[in-house]
Amino acid sequence: MSLDEAAVERISEETAEKYRKYFSPGQANILKFSGFDVPEDRAEGCYIWDISGRKFLDCVGGYGAFSLGHRHPKVVEAVKKQLDKEALKSHFFMSIELADACEAMAQVLPGDINYSFLCNSGTEAVEGALKAARIHTGRTEYIGAINGFHGKSFGSLSVSGRELYKEAFKPLLPVVQQVPFGDADALADAINDKTAAVILEVVQGEAGVNVPPDDYFPKVREICSANGALLIADEVRTAYGRTGKMFATEHYNVQPDIVTMAKALGGGVMPVGAFSANADIWDSMFGKNPYLHSTTFGGNPLACSAVIAAIKTTIEEGLVERSATLGKVLLEGLQSIQKQYPNVVKEVRGKGLLAGVEFDHEDFAALVIAGCGRRDVLVAYSLNNPKVIRLEPPLIIEESELKRAIDAVGEAVAETSEMLAGISG
Ligand SMILES: Cc1ncc(COP(=O)(O)O)c(C=O)c1O
Repeated sequence: MSLDEAAVERISEETAEKYRKYFSPGQANILKFSGFDVPEDRAEGCYIWDISGRKFLDCVGGYGAFSLGHRHPKVVEAVKKQLDKEALKSHFFMSIELADACEAMAQVLPGDINYSFLCNSGTEAVEGALKAARIHTGRTEYIGAINGFHGKSFGSLSVSGRELYKEAFKPLLPVVQQVPFGDADALADAINDKTAAVILEVVQGEAGVNVPPDDYFPKVREICSANGALLIADEVRTAYGRTGKMFATEHYNVQPDIVTMAKALGGGVMPVGAFSANADIWDSMFGKNPYLHSTTFGGNPLACSAVIAAIKTTIEEGLVERSATLGKVLLEGLQSIQKQYPNVVKEVRGKGLLAGVEFDHEDFAALVIAGCGRRDVLVAYSLNNPKVIRLEPPLIIEESELKRAIDAVGEAVAETSEMLAGISG
């Protein structure tokens, strides 16, 4: 679609009005205020077009979902082929697609983690993992990290670490402690013989791309094992190559007990989540009653066809290695901006194609996001640390496109600095 100015304005206003009346007046206002109020129309590869025909380089990347870019042809083809055959199942018979998807996952999952339960989102994956930890250990308590993000259903929200999103829904799960991410001593102090699981992102995403010290996860593993608690690695955002390894725990040679996934698992075409564990944990969860935990839509054949194609494509196209290589280009580019503007850019962090830039103030971050948008480059806000903007481009991005994104951030930082200096001076 490429419409004239009047049509763009009319459709944008009509859509905003429907948001105000039927969906979310708040979101309509925020999108208008931030200048992202022309609806998007289509997407392909690393790009999104709005209804005016304006083309944006997408470095928000579905917060990790578009590792293969938008509508990767191999995933689209697999899903279309499946759609022509059968869309959804009652899971009354066995499913070849589900069996194949779980097998494809087992082939890349760490160590002896061979069993998977497919669901539809990250938060559902986390809910399943929390239940599996309880039934396997016979314990009830959890430890998460301050500012950690695991989703917004009750269990996931309970183990997440920002009060802003929790306060209004209390009481949540009663037995959750939050410890500082990256501090193994704090975890050692908090854990006890009631702890069923420690749940951590490997690189914190919504907390503003926090990369732990190299010895953190090996210590976490030791502490969990010594105390009989399970380690749940929440890889909803990081799995399937985002950080430059297939799974982020591989950076630290650490074997988790349960892994949660979503985002890139569906190849950017289908919404899919999953939690996975070894035979022992699976036996505790499903051994006595295979229907103790179940879902109507999870593991549907469309989703499974996307999972199989996504994993195959990630391997065939060498995207994990690509993420590691381009991640260095991204980090170096952002660090050179920090060197130019040390007063406003507090820190640059990242692993693979997951990078964050922390500013001295959240308004500065918001202005930089808007500035990048004006340059047709989309970068993300961080829910649990609004001072940080994030770049999570598709792993298929070309180096020249990545450099364009870095330039846009640099220009937006320069422009924002000048503007604020003008106001205060
Ligand atoms: C690490 C992590 N876990 C869980 C979730 C929740 O996933 P979803 O939004 O699909 O429920 C997210 C979402 O951003 C996430 O980043």
